[in-house]
Amino acid sequence: MFFDRPDSGEKTILVHLVIDSEEERDDPTEFEELARSAGASPVAYIGGTRRQPAPNHFVGGGKLEEIAACVRATGAELVLFNHALSPSQERNLEKHLKCRVLDRTGLILDIFAQRARSHEGKLQVELAQLKHLSTRLKRGWTHLDRQKGGIGLKGAGETQLELDQRMIRQRIKAIHKGLDRVRGQREQGRRSRQRAEVPTMSLVGYTNAGKSTLFNALTDAQTYAADQLFATLDSTLRRIKLPNLGPAIVADTVGFISHLPHGLVEAFRATLEETASATLLLHVIDGANEAQDELRMEVESVLKEIDADQVPRLEVINKIDSVPDGEPRLLRNEAGLPVRVWVSAKTGVGLDLLLTAMTELLSGGLVSQTVILQAKQAKLRSHLYQSKFVTGEQTDETGASILDLRLPKAELYRILAQEDLQLGEPKSSRSGQSDSLPQVQAVSAGSVSGS
Ligand code: GTP
Repeated sequence: MFFDRPDSGEKTILVHLVIDSEEERDDPTEFEELARSAGASPVAYIGGTRRQPAPNHFVGGGKLEEIAACVRATGAELVLFNHALSPSQERNLEKHLKCRVLDRTGLILDIFAQRARSHEGKLQVELAQLKHLSTRLKRGWTHLDRQKGGIGLKGAGETQLELDQRMIRQRIKAIHKGLDRVRGQREQGRRSRQRAEVPTMSLVGYTNAGKSTLFNALTDAQTYAADQLFATLDSTLRRIKLPNLGPAIVADTVGFISHLPHGLVEAFRATLEETASATLLLHVIDGANEAQDELRMEVESVLKEIDADQVPRLEVINKIDSVPDGEPRLLRNEAGLPVRVWVSAKTGVGLDLLLTAMTELLSGGLVSQTVILQAKQAKLRSHLYQSKFVTGEQTDETGASILDLRLPKAELYRILAQEDLQLGEPKSSRSGQSDSLPQVQAVSAGSVSGS
């Protein structure tokens, strides 16, 4: 990567003003979490209100002195603003405060830089960093220590500041080429997965909802999960085997964030591209977060923008272990299809329901079928019972079991392909009632998928 990878943990002052002319920012705690995610150690929080930003220092004279005094008193090495600062405001602030200053875009870029793992993600972050940096090249760092590595310098150590615009342009061009190549490879991978008819599930959701934890729980993969925002920046793919269905791919994706700075939207969305071609989206929601409804809507609107709103969706309400009376359960719509499931990725509670729901949705829902089992098929009978597929049982005059089943279509096909089974008359015909669910035909082993 083009940028240095330094340590952090700097003493940091957080500045968050409510600006009348701006849309009100909802949550200063998110700002603090972001700062901690970047590795900052906040030593003071300075709030305030202003009708509009002051042109020179963003804050007014009084507030500027308050921050300067705080820097002196705490020995802070960095002042973080929860706002977008112009390059000249940043420069003026640094001159006055004699301390590094970073705005919200710089902060989020820093976090992205720490967390990007795939080649494509790294390129995208570097591109965004270069664009951000190129507007700030003239900032004149001589008034500050040329320290390497703090927050916000993960892209902008001294060597980078000495790069001229021409070099940056060349690098941007090279990154674009690299990105085209990686995208081509990704597209190829996607096409071959589609050809192989392996269903793909994308985990999407707000940052910190628990996607990586769930991804790990589902795949046993050691994806990095931490109590920090943005533990994932790139789609990470893993192959899993779904019980009663067969192989499927799970993709972990980067978390959503409110007020994503404009310059970062493209990098963020590109990492979500794959979700539009997923077979199923698992929308992970932090059930312990009071703002979950707003966050859910925000995720939905982005999914719409990237044309992923047509993809079947399953909502996974996570963290039920930290909600009073949080119980695992599965909600179905009128057609009987799963729409929401309550789980704890951390404790594993409810994951069996999630797997059931995923299997049903991927296999085209449930079907009803009556089968006749001979006495020697006791093992299959017990499997059907254990899987909770049996809705009724009778015994015929020969002692064979007539089982009424309701199960995922793919599972029925798999059983039919593997077992010598006789299909029985559906219960509806036996009882004279009609059953509107589709009845499946017996199929040959060759036409069975996912077994
Ligand atoms: P980003 O990568 O930032 O988008 O986050 P994420 O959605 O992947 O969240 P992650 O899995 O990193 O989890 C965030 C935090 O929530 C971590 O501290 C997890 O330990 C915690 N967490 C995840 N699942 C659960 C859960 O079921 N219960 C509880 N109590 N905490 C959980």
